[in-house]
Amino acid sequence: MMNDMPQAVQAQEQAQGNGRRIGDVVLDLQNISLSFGGVKALTNISFNVREHEIRSIIGPNGAGKSSMLNVINGVYHPQEGRILFRGEERRKMEPHRAAAQGIARTFQNIALFKGMSVLDNIMTGRNLKMKSGLLANALYWGRAQREEIEHRVKVEEVIDFLEIQDIRKTPVGALPYGLQKRVELGRALAAEPSLLLLDEPMAGMNVEEKQDMCRFILDVNDQFGTTIVLIEHDMGVVMDISDRVVVLDYGKKIGDGVPEEVRANEDVIRAYLGTSH
Ligand SMILES: Nc1ncnc2c1ncn2[C@@H]1O[C@H](COP(=O)(O)OP(=O)(O)O)[C@@H](O)[C@H]1O
Ligand SMILES: [Mg+2]
Repeated sequence: MMNDMPQAVQAQEQAQGNGRRIGDVVLDLQNISLSFGGVKALTNISFNVREHEIRSIIGPNGAGKSSMLNVINGVYHPQEGRILFRGEERRKMEPHRAAAQGIARTFQNIALFKGMSVLDNIMTGRNLKMKSGLLANALYWGRAQREEIEHRVKVEEVIDFLEIQDIRKTPVGALPYGLQKRVELGRALAAEPSLLLLDEPMAGMNVEEKQDMCRFILDVNDQFGTTIVLIEHDMGVVMDISDRVVVLDYGKKIGDGVPEEVRANEDVIRAYLGTSH
């Protein structure tokens, strides 16, 4: 009996993924339809995202993946469907509201201030958390100072975590593409999100850069418990790091499940064999 104990503990730890325990549904998308004029970007899409999960969205170009992220963070407003975030139904949502609720994202095309340093770019990720305005600064100078220090500490933590100490003063525009993508992740992390949306964070990267990015994504998920929705084209990466995968094609959902299920799905195989992407 005593001898069985360590094994049982080990098995339990494995099931929990070393503390990374998949929890309840945090984001529930129900029958989402979105169109732009005559173009139907999303048609009747339903899927959910569970706490601490790495949930990938895949599909050929134009499938509606980025549109889906834009729906989640309140940039696009679907004509039909319901969105529940942490059990609460959302009507119309602005991006800053989504950010205030703990949703942060990176973009398919890097959206950073190229002339600003790495440090300052990552600092912009703290904007929402900055309570002290000009007036408060004047009236409560001490509090504003303390807040400023808090933000700097958090930003330095992010810089250490992403191993970019040596480029903290470098203008982002002078960095190679792979590092710019890492800085963009840094800006998102500075907001301390509970839900992180990543739109092709590894696109255009070489193998080594991809491996680094993969490791950071897994570490964010593991160490901070951050729930991640990931759009990625590299099937090896997707199948490797995702807990579950949803597959879109021409704005429709054609597959949903754990990687093995999706890999064996006939519709998914057909979509991928029939298109180049
Ligand atoms: N702001 C927009 N205005 C008009 N059409 C759009 C807009 N955003 C996306 N679309 C259209 O929606 C469809 C899905 O695009 P997108 O979500 O970017 O796909 P993916 O990220 O899977 O490549 C495409 O036909 C695209 O042209
Ligand atoms: Mg896209």
